[in-house]
Amino acid sequence: TLIVALFSCILICESKTVIEARHDVRKFPDWFQFGTATASYQVEGAWDADGKTPNIWDHLTHNDPCSIEDCQNGDIANDSYNQYKRDVEMMRELGLDFYRFSLSWNRILPTSFPDKINEAGVQYYNNLINEMLKYNIQPMVTLYHWDLPQKLQDMGGWTNPHIVDWFSDYARVAFELFGDRVKNWITINEPREVCIQGYGEDQKAPKLKISGVADYLCDKNILVAHAKAYHIYDKEFRPSQGGTIGITLSAGWVEPETENDIEMAETVRQFEMGQYAHPIFSKTGDFPPVMKERIAAKSAAQGFKRSRLPEFTPEEVEMIRGSSDFFGLNHYSSSMAHKNESSVVQYDVPSYSDDIGAQTYQPTHWSGGASFWLKDVPWGFYKLLTKIREDYDNPPVFITENGYSTRGGLNDDDRIAYIRGYLNALLDAIEEGCDVQVYTAWSLMDNFEWLMGYTERFGLYEVDYESPQRTRTPRKSAFVYKEIVRSRALDP
Ligand code: NOJ
Repeated sequence: TLIVALFSCILICESKTVIEARHDVRKFPDWFQFGTATASYQVEGAWDADGKTPNIWDHLTHNDPCSIEDCQNGDIANDSYNQYKRDVEMMRELGLDFYRFSLSWNRILPTSFPDKINEAGVQYYNNLINEMLKYNIQPMVTLYHWDLPQKLQDMGGWTNPHIVDWFSDYARVAFELFGDRVKNWITINEPREVCIQGYGEDQKAPKLKISGVADYLCDKNILVAHAKAYHIYDKEFRPSQGGTIGITLSAGWVEPETENDIEMAETVRQFEMGQYAHPIFSKTGDFPPVMKERIAAKSAAQGFKRSRLPEFTPEEVEMIRGSSDFFGLNHYSSSMAHKNESSVVQYDVPSYSDDIGAQTYQPTHWSGGASFWLKDVPWGFYKLLTKIREDYDNPPVFITENGYSTRGGLNDDDRIAYIRGYLNALLDAIEEGCDVQVYTAWSLMDNFEWLMGYTERFGLYEVDYESPQRTRTPRKSAFVYKEIVRSRALDP
């Protein structure tokens, strides 16, 4: 009897485990979409092929090569200009619903203006789009992913208010050329990185480093430019083309260290995400009140006659408010905020970080990827999604980027753990009512990681930069992602 009892217990216990295990499989909703992303300068190469003219990254990497970690550039990059069929083949291997890529402004409009359309450049994008559609992979197209025509930069780039017209003319050309087949548009990728890192700091081209002034001019112009492009699409193209259009913001989660730091953490969030999200997604529009107040006070104390943060006209506030069909979110990591007055910089010259007046850091025990800023903090993702739901009336959220960097190698268990952790957090958020509809893994393949060159690898596919074809090989994570996409589920 004892043996029989033991045996049946083993059976029951085992089947119980199986049932529990099955129960733990987390399904994504039926309508959920999976994709991967890249960006023109990071993968295309062919920097001067067929009439393409230079952009600010060509300019930076050619004039100051070793401002890039490995003194490399995107001249050839992944050679996607020639290897697009292989790129689409990888999308098919992964079973993607969509692929997010960006257009090179210079490749389509070599003078930067719509007076001359470069047929060869247009042909490249037509080839890519048509090849994807052959296999039912939907294009999600970003108009601006950081490669501004150098000629426009020579005229002040995003600090010149005329860029509103320059950008919207370019956007109109893109809608005309590709809108019959492209149904998902993103105007601008990560305005914070464009403005704060490119115009306020020297972390991105054009490395202007005029903090607390040029960054805010850029902020205003980029938001107006985005909104104008949105309304052009909405009025002139949506009725016949019927797609969606929005903006992609970058945001990390900022966690207060103690109860005393709650307000400060919120200020940081308003300066980081709020400065772009508030004008578009809040009920009132405009820059966040805390930002306006702090910069006005600082500016006055520094002797400025007006706030360094430019004002929107009431018409601009209205034009920007609601100008995105979805909340495009690039999210990678989190930080902590703490009050430490002694270490808060007290510049008497303008500075964005001084305007925030807060200290953020990442605890040393947080583990992470090859990028120093990329720590694996899935709970931060959950908190951020909840915050977006609460602050902006639960907008549809498209995760337009999320991913992990290594130094290379096919065995990328850390990336797998990261993706699974973040997808679990995403499902937690959905279960609590967040309207997350899309997940995009950054990246389909390794690529030119801006100032870090090819030293940080984000790809599900590894790229061999020694080979002429830039051979692509799937990493372990590619197989795992493929299975998630196929099963629409996350195994325990
Ligand atoms: C966000 C940017 O959009 C993308 O270009 C970059 O490579 C990734 N973050 C990783 O840093």
